[in-house]
Amino acid sequence: MRRRSFIRAGTFSSLAAGTGMASALGAKPLAALATGPGRRTASGDVRLNSNENPLGISPAAKDALVEAIVLANRYPSDQNAALVSKLATAHDVADGQIVLGTGSAEVLQMAVQAFAAPRARLVMADPTYEAIIDYQRTESYELVKVPLTATHEHDLDQMRAAAESSGRPALVYLCNPNNPTATITPSAAIDAWIADAPEHVFFLSDEAYIEYVEDDRMWSSLPWIEKKRNVLVVKTFSKIYGLAGLRLGYGIAHPDTAARLSDFASRNNANQLALAAAAASFQDEALMTKSRIVNQEAKKMVQATLDELGLEHMPTETNFLMHRISGDLATYRGRMAEAGFLVGRDFPPMLDWNRLSFGLPEDMGRFCDTLRQFRQKGWV
Ligand SMILES: Cc1ncc(COP(=O)(O)O)c(C=O)c1O
Repeated sequence: MRRRSFIRAGTFSSLAAGTGMASALGAKPLAALATGPGRRTASGDVRLNSNENPLGISPAAKDALVEAIVLANRYPSDQNAALVSKLATAHDVADGQIVLGTGSAEVLQMAVQAFAAPRARLVMADPTYEAIIDYQRTESYELVKVPLTATHEHDLDQMRAAAESSGRPALVYLCNPNNPTATITPSAAIDAWIADAPEHVFFLSDEAYIEYVEDDRMWSSLPWIEKKRNVLVVKTFSKIYGLAGLRLGYGIAHPDTAARLSDFASRNNANQLALAAAAASFQDEALMTKSRIVNQEAKKMVQATLDELGLEHMPTETNFLMHRISGDLATYRGRMAEAGFLVGRDFPPMLDWNRLSFGLPEDMGRFCDTLRQFRQKGWV
């Protein structure tokens, strides 16, 4: 970590060190945090398939939403500017370095569009978060997918060769921690590449899950934006802040890069309610601490159960993990849905692995019992 405050490093370990997790949790029992709506689908299934925060939104965000309803008839420019300033101050950058998006997905889309060029390469891990693949379809990229290493890290040597060998512009997507594998790629190696990379290699650093990371080999790529125009860091309110349904994310970059990106943003893309809830949630230590504690409890329970059942699983630095299944993945998902749990989707080429998002501990307890029954029946 450089001279940055913890918000720039942004990982769980750096935050936990400074905050006193137990006191922030207070006397409130974890069960009381299990607020109902949104925990399940309308049909009563528990949602363990989209890496959402099962706790729901924070009390402060709820109040902010109610207050903001009266602004629904007004365009959100003032509230937009206020949130941008808040984020800029916290990240120690100028307002012009922040670009809001309708979810971080829109920021990824802006980047894919803004940096497209004839015969440019788009280099990404395989598997990784697939939105990038969708967004590049309308552009002229040559898509290069580089398989993860045996330890499920980005294969930076191969990615570098792919990005730099043609001498043409390249957009490199680094999803760290990676979705769907939940694994990290050590930041020292990423930093070494960024330090050396030619200007025509552009780094898109997706840090959607960084607030959950405990492994101190990973940190944010944010310090690079001071010196480098070719680095964009993308963050979201959808994960630890629990606002996936409101759709707000942001990019942070050198002012020139941020300006280029903004040309591809839809006008007034962040709405009043999303802005209000995000402003109320950002850096809410109680919310983040609760989210991490609940996540850890669920994670430990699931890992212990998978070990007990002899089901291989990958290490996780996020709010989900990948575990091996035997048999057909779609059949497994269908049976889990019948038992009331929505899990995973296909992440080729890992078609004998299921991605499981962590829910509330009590739901994960029932999930683990179901998994044991599946094992007894030979279904997994
Ligand atoms: C790695 C990663 N990046 C970006 C996103 C998009 O999130 P949002 O658009 O909700 O901010 C997701 C969603 O799951 C994700 O996993």
